[in-house]
Amino acid sequence: MQPTYYENLDEIKKKIWMMLDDAVTNRSSPFRIPVFICGNQSDFDGRIVVLRKSDQKNNLLQYHTDIRSDKIAQLKLNKNAVMIFYDKEEKIQVRLKVECVINHNNKITKESWLKTQHISRKCYLVDQGPGTKSDVPTSGLKPELDNFEFTMEQSEQGYKNFTVIQCNIKSMEWLYLAAKGHRRARFDLVLNQETWLTP
Ligand SMILES: Cc1cc2nc3c(=O)[nH]c(=O)nc-3n(C[C@H](O)[C@H](O)[C@H](O)COP(=O)(O)O)c2cc1C
Repeated sequence: MQPTYYENLDEIKKKIWMMLDDAVTNRSSPFRIPVFICGNQSDFDGRIVVLRKSDQKNNLLQYHTDIRSDKIAQLKLNKNAVMIFYDKEEKIQVRLKVECVINHNNKITKESWLKTQHISRKCYLVDQGPGTKSDVPTSGLKPELDNFEFTMEQSEQGYKNFTVIQCNIKSMEWLYLAAKGHRRARFDLVLNQETWLTP
């Protein structure tokens, strides 16, 4: 039997948002760690990020990063980016075109920072920004931080680097792999248009 979303665009949209919403809290969901790609003209780069928020009402996704990361400089020059998700079990690929907003030291970062766990705050405590060259193999952390010997109070130091990237979804592309025939569809959220595509 084919799933309800096999040939129904409304069901596909429902399925996409169900998978995105679930991924925010479900650590074993493959949709939790999409590839985020951004860049400028001849220099593009992609990396895995963790999906932290999914908001269908506002067509919005969020992830966290360090303000010193290379992608910040790229996003300042070009806010257009792509997010790619794949669930092997479900055989579903979702490709999103997004427009990014960089949040640093504002109401949104404050709200998200309060929800971060002690363990996650470690990433923001590195002395040099992510991607900084080192003569020796390094975590970038002072030894006492490497060993988790830091208080919640000390972890507050990380807030100055903590950044929330808001990804406003402009379009969604769906690909479902099925033996009976693959199905592909695109949803343009700006023009409010949707169409089937040849896979
Ligand atoms: C499972 C996993 C989750 C990750 N989550 C994030 C994340 O949420 N935010 C982030 O900036 N980097 C995350 N990273 C690290 C990035 O993939 C990347 O190495 C880092 O952001 C530095 O690259 P960039 O500054 O060029 O983006 C994650 C990596 C892995 C393997």
